[in-house]
Amino acid sequence: MDDVLQFLVIFVSVLIIILTLQYYKQRWRSLISPGPTGLPIIGTRLYTGVDFHRTARKLAQDGYGNVCSFMLGIPMVLANDFDTISEVFNSNKGFDFASRRESFYICQLYNPKKLGLFTSDYSERWVQQKRFVLSTLRGFGFGKSSFEGKITEEVQNLLSHVKELSNMPQDLSQVLTLSVGSIVTNLILGCHYDYNNNEFLQIVDALKRCMSNFGKTSMVLMEFLPISRPFLQQSAQEMRDLHAEFKSVVMSRVAECQKTFSADKEPRNFVDCYLAKMVEQPDIFTLEDLLFVLSDLFGGSMETTSNTIMFTILYLVANPDVQEKVHEELMTVVGPSRLPCLEDHNRLPYTVATIYESQRLASVTPMICRCATVDTTLAGYAIPKGTNVICNTWGLHYDPDVWPDPYRFDPTRHLNDKGEVIKSPYLLPFGAGRRVCMGESLAKMKLFLYFSSLMHQFKFELPPGAAMPSMKPLPGFNASPEPFPVMIKEYVNTKKRSDL
Ligand code: HEM
Repeated sequence: MDDVLQFLVIFVSVLIIILTLQYYKQRWRSLISPGPTGLPIIGTRLYTGVDFHRTARKLAQDGYGNVCSFMLGIPMVLANDFDTISEVFNSNKGFDFASRRESFYICQLYNPKKLGLFTSDYSERWVQQKRFVLSTLRGFGFGKSSFEGKITEEVQNLLSHVKELSNMPQDLSQVLTLSVGSIVTNLILGCHYDYNNNEFLQIVDALKRCMSNFGKTSMVLMEFLPISRPFLQQSAQEMRDLHAEFKSVVMSRVAECQKTFSADKEPRNFVDCYLAKMVEQPDIFTLEDLLFVLSDLFGGSMETTSNTIMFTILYLVANPDVQEKVHEELMTVVGPSRLPCLEDHNRLPYTVATIYESQRLASVTPMICRCATVDTTLAGYAIPKGTNVICNTWGLHYDPDVWPDPYRFDPTRHLNDKGEVIKSPYLLPFGAGRRVCMGESLAKMKLFLYFSSLMHQFKFELPPGAAMPSMKPLPGFNASPEPFPVMIKEYVNTKKRSDL
């Protein structure tokens, strides 16, 4: 009798659990949009694959529509077309989807308290951090034309370095990351690092490894297949260790600043301003917050910019006619005796269109992840508070209805009949709305000055006999091209950098 009772208790308990899960699943399904049915336990993981943005677009094409819901460990909603993505960015003045995605990586491995800028939820703390960081950096010239001199200085350093590498097959990704990185370290830490400075190399290297580790299969599994987590503890610990390594290098720099910091003295750099704010408002501005703010500024600025430039060089190696036209335009408008500057921007439509086209094709941040801050709607479907929403900007940038023959590299799609640049609303490399990229204006200045200066001075070609490198991005936090060597040839008709 005891056995029967025991069996009945277990049977009824299991039944209740199954019915409850079924109820919530149905309720969730009835609230939100259509999507593929997941398999038990593993959800839709098998449908998605590692190239998630491509498969996501395919789901829309397969009839699930532009707002598609599915289980990926946790419920997700995918926004695939321009109207839906715009609604995510702008609904209720951008407030409804202003939080970041709940994720295993953020909550368990990186930033459990969700501090800082990028990974934090929409909150008063985040509002205050973003406002303070932006206004302080602007005080140091961030994103303003007055900052041009600092970027140009770094560009000139890079050009001298690249010249030394000419006529031999070279992979430029490391030197580019160091160059764009030194602009942000200068701004934040107030110090100028040489490319071979140990501390700087440690920061860049730790950051790079964090970003690329993010794309590893073990990370993808832990994120989207919760039952795999107990088996992948070693990978989880590796990721934690990588973050700890990065934090400790940055922290030692902050500690250096702290030693000589005085609230009564003129701030020397961004860290000084933050330390002063910590004295003024200790409940919101803490050392821990500062660490995550710095991680976000380094992480947000380095790879995104250098990967975009590397993809642009790759596309131009594959399209020498475009490269020649860009150089010709630079020679006609700027001339051989000086480097391009921001004032030239509006007079270089083909060069600017080439940057836009590279940003579209590269889509270095292919998916922008947000989370609903309130119960709301998306394209008419109810979206409960806390639902993760992924904007497939890669899908938008490759939408054939918006960009005919989307895989073709064609800068002229960003020009009108008069040869003027068109700013397409369908190009969203920096996101939009409340969580729009904080470094957008600085990034645009950097992309223009780096790209136009490199094209002004050098020709990039495939090394003799080399096969065309793959255009397919490597998995990671940001899309990056596979390492590829190029032959760099200096144009003879331009002045030497020492004379510029
Ligand atoms: C080509 C270069 C860059 C690209 C493609 C890029 C792209 C993005 C994207 C797509 C987002 C998410 C936007 C959203 O949710 O709507 C973002 C956020 C962010 N970016 Fe950038 N970014 C670039 C450069 C920079 C630079 C130079 C900095 C800083 C110096 C920076 C700092 C940030 C920060 C702090 C955030 C988080 C903003 C928030 O959550 O409120 N980014 N970026």
